[in-house]
Amino acid sequence: MSTQPFALPIAYLNGKFVPVEEAQISPFDRGFIFGDGVYEVIPYYGGKGLRAREHLERLQRSLDMLDIANPYTLDQWQAHLSELVAKNGGGDQAVYMQVTRGVAKRDFAPPKGLTPTVFMMSNPLSQPSKALYEKGLSCVTLDDFRWGRCNVKSTALLGAVLLKHEAVQMGADDCVLFRDGFLTESSASNVVAVKNGVILCPPRDNLILPGITYDLMIELAGKRGVPLEQRKVSRKEVLSADELWLTSSTKEVIAITTLDGKPVGSAEHAGKPGPLFWKMLGFFQDYKQELRALAAAAE
Ligand code: PDD
Repeated sequence: MSTQPFALPIAYLNGKFVPVEEAQISPFDRGFIFGDGVYEVIPYYGGKGLRAREHLERLQRSLDMLDIANPYTLDQWQAHLSELVAKNGGGDQAVYMQVTRGVAKRDFAPPKGLTPTVFMMSNPLSQPSKALYEKGLSCVTLDDFRWGRCNVKSTALLGAVLLKHEAVQMGADDCVLFRDGFLTESSASNVVAVKNGVILCPPRDNLILPGITYDLMIELAGKRGVPLEQRKVSRKEVLSADELWLTSSTKEVIAITTLDGKPVGSAEHAGKPGPLFWKMLGFFQDYKQELRALAAAAE
């Protein structure tokens, strides 16, 4: 087993900040027994949350879909999150937060009136190296066999775990998933394709997680005049794409340069991140720079 610490030193559990190694929950927690819970991963830059409000609004939608009462208001969440980040030294962190239905006798029917369990931890968030950006990721195409409510950010992640496991066993970094011949997403990121200068994004339906980074990318493309279509993207379009990207809160945007062992794109860009990728990465860096400047000005 790795000797690396599991997370930064301070965690949050049910109203208390505790040393991470002391955070303990009951084995009867429905999160442990059934995966009956939801989560978020929120990036903090210079101690300031990137789209924290949007993450908390998505948390609310996930809780609503599972009929779990939100234990905190938006302001309370923001305060607990900021305190956790500050207690762990500020700077750039990825906060993981999880809410489960709570502790109860094992029964599939959720009992009413349980007290949700709230757990938060944080990890350092480091930007991928220039070498990694230039290399990009290798992915394999796999059949998306997950359930029909991928828009819920549920802690029941066995489908994603098995898909990622299969991709890694095949020697790849990750997977690109298809359902009924159309692109959905990756194990823990959204996927978009680029063809003839147009970004092609799968629709925001129940078959993908509506990514906060995906939304930010759409917003940045709109502001900077990059054409974008939100519609079903076929397997054929993905296999003949000029560029493929993954987006997520921890990866931001990164190019997929190899798919099923073949280079993505053609001519001088074959197997390398394409020109629109570098442009979009620049838009993200500018956006983060503004966020950091805001955080510094508020101090
Ligand atoms: N994963 N799709 C899936 C299935 C995801 O799990 C994630 C996030 C995304 C991207 O969403 P966002 O841009 O809001 O991070 C898309 C997180 C990072 C995780 O599980 O660690």
